[in-house]
Amino acid sequence: MNQSPDQITIRQPDDWHVHLRDGDMLRSVATYTARQFARAIVMPNLSPPITGTASAVAYRDRILSAAADHADFTPLMTCYLTDSSDAEDIAQGFNSGVFTAAKLYPANATTNSAHGVTDVANIMPVLERMQKMGMPLLIHGEVTDADVDVFDREAVFIERTLSKVVQQLPELKVVFEHITTAEAVDFVNASGANVGATITPQHLHINRNAMFQGGIRPHAYCLPVAKREQHRLALRKAATSGSVKYFLGTDSAPHEIHAKESACGCAGIFNAPYALESYTTIFDEEGALDKLEGFASIHGPQFYGLPLNEGTVTLQRSKTIVPDAIEAGGTTIVPFHAGQELDWQIVG
Ligand code: DOR
Ligand code: ZN
Repeated sequence: MNQSPDQITIRQPDDWHVHLRDGDMLRSVATYTARQFARAIVMPNLSPPITGTASAVAYRDRILSAAADHADFTPLMTCYLTDSSDAEDIAQGFNSGVFTAAKLYPANATTNSAHGVTDVANIMPVLERMQKMGMPLLIHGEVTDADVDVFDREAVFIERTLSKVVQQLPELKVVFEHITTAEAVDFVNASGANVGATITPQHLHINRNAMFQGGIRPHAYCLPVAKREQHRLALRKAATSGSVKYFLGTDSAPHEIHAKESACGCAGIFNAPYALESYTTIFDEEGALDKLEGFASIHGPQFYGLPLNEGTVTLQRSKTIVPDAIEAGGTTIVPFHAGQELDWQIVG
């Protein structure tokens, strides 16, 4: 890695957690992910969700066509787990190379998760099979009980569910997705090498105050919701620590502007357009530019057992101005950092 204070060259990164949507929205957003990342783990929470190999193959084809201007981009597909997921089907999807991983949404935890899992006990045979095959389980780690405070739902999930899954299936590869708390960092650090986590740019940049700065700020709202400052600091420490357990996953989740700026706004932050500039700004602020390549380009493929990318990307310390809105395919989407400047720019 060639590094100087003002310029950094790293292997081309991958995004280990992204929502690319479908139809017009997919055609609008795919290019933003494909121009920065060689591969991306694509979330299956469409309506209806991607639960089988046939729908995953068809969806992958639609993604490849939407990202056709970046011919080297590889979408890695995931299977949406439901109470009635079948271990044999999922094993076939994994063994045939269609599915890279399976995603566990607790039912009703977030966007399009109504078909998610109501009780992990219902998918134990699937998880046992995944453990045997080495197929990663990607977890949205929040309880959904209305009586648990929304800011506590991740920590309570660790206690009630995740700790038990990891105990019962000690070899299962688990990615604790988009972690937002110091409790999650502690849990991942204390777990074996088979437990890793993705961290989004927004959870490194903002704490929960961002949602209420001078008024209600729907574009700072995602799930799991941003927490207190102490949690953001724990996430920054984990991401920039050099630990192989942490890797890049943007959770870029585009929603059309009116779906965000609404009496009941959708959860999700569209960070794909400037994701790498956003992460680089954090690593720079933490004095950890030398740890960026591991987080962005090495720890993820190593966890998934995939080869490292051969290409490189070079960033330079100069201002990137993020537009107020992105107009694409007839829709308007407000990106993360809208109207702000980031300190880094991609130059090659
Ligand atoms: O904020 C979020 N948006 N969190 C999720 O878990 C899902 C995502 C979406 O699909 O919009
Ligand atoms: Zn997500």
